[in-house]
Amino acid sequence: MKIAEKLFNLALEARKRSYSPYSKFKVGAAIYADDEKFYSSCNVENVSYPCGTCAETGAISSMIAGGGKKIKEILVVADSENIISPCGGCRQRIMEFSDKNTYVHLAGLDGIKKTMKAHELLPLAFDEEELRND
Ligand code: THU
Repeated sequence: MKIAEKLFNLALEARKRSYSPYSKFKVGAAIYADDEKFYSSCNVENVSYPCGTCAETGAISSMIAGGGKKIKEILVVADSENIISPCGGCRQRIMEFSDKNTYVHLAGLDGIKKTMKAHELLPLAFDEEELRND
């Protein structure tokens, strides 16, 4: 099975388990990491709204806890008329674990709608270079 296909199936499975009673917007995400393992998660909301977490954030935590260090490919799926557009915070989180070859797939329930490089999703990202102030 192709990596993108496997990511789609895993993200769709995770999405089914989404805990989103407030927005009713279910999101799933899956990562293929540099350790050649797959990680996935869904969005988990909270009655205190800002405490909720996005699917991408959960998938990144799962990757780090599982031993992955870099995202080779990440797929996000939602039932969205337009493409699901990762929030600004998640774009920054994705960039932290991406390199110039990292792919981001944006999918609807019927499959991948758009594929791009992570740096195309967040041009001019704030990165480590910016912390050097001398
Ligand atoms: N959400 C994600 O999980 N990922 C995104 O890329 C966009 C938004 C979640 C957060 C919240 O639980 C729900 O979707 C509505 O914003």
